[in-house]
Amino acid sequence: MRFLRDALLTLLLLLVAVLVVGYALVGNLFSAATAPGRLESAVAVRVRNLSIPSEARQARNPFAGQKDAWREGADHFGDHCAVCHNNDGRGGGEIGPHLYPRVPDMTRPRTQDLTDGEIFYIISNGVRWTGMPAWKDDHTPEETWRLVSFIRHLPSLTPDEMEQIEKASGEHHGEDSHAHHGK
Ligand code: HEC
Repeated sequence: MRFLRDALLTLLLLLVAVLVVGYALVGNLFSAATAPGRLESAVAVRVRNLSIPSEARQARNPFAGQKDAWREGADHFGDHCAVCHNNDGRGGGEIGPHLYPRVPDMTRPRTQDLTDGEIFYIISNGVRWTGMPAWKDDHTPEETWRLVSFIRHLPSLTPDEMEQIEKASGEHHGEDSHAHHGK
């Protein structure tokens, strides 16, 4: 009896091993071409959020009360973040939709339900095993808080504001032809 049980268990383990290797080979386990499944994303984001220390989670944005703090943040965002997150933070950037995991639409609850402190922490430290870089060596805390203000403003960004941002980022990068100097 015991022999039979051990034999069955061994077979079962072998089957699992074959399935895992088979999935890796056939199922492109290391390909970034498809988006992660819902369960995988939910677990990964939850674990990421749990890893944020509680002091960091509770940190306050010194610009929270300032209506226009997001404007400088928008400029910065256009320079460093839009390539992945797009100017509107919705994730249609040049690179973001092709990363594994994909960049999120930051107007949605997944991002907006984070505390200001959590957003600050993520921008400063990046997210390991994803394309999200750590920015704390490049940005002062003030600059990062303004980015937080901008991310908070994203859901209510108007088309007019969007246009201003795109114009400013075009001028920055010299993409604008500056053909209408005289105007
Ligand atoms: C090279 C691509 C890349 C760049 C550049 C980048 N990000 Fe990200 N970012 C990502 C990816 C990928 C994620 C998703 C990480 C995850 O799934 O946990 C992310 C996640 C985030 C999040 C968490 C949102 C959420 O709901 O998970 C914030 C906030 C964020 N980025 C802000 C920024 C800011 C601000 C900048 C510029 C200073 C920036 N990112 C630049 C790729 C990028």
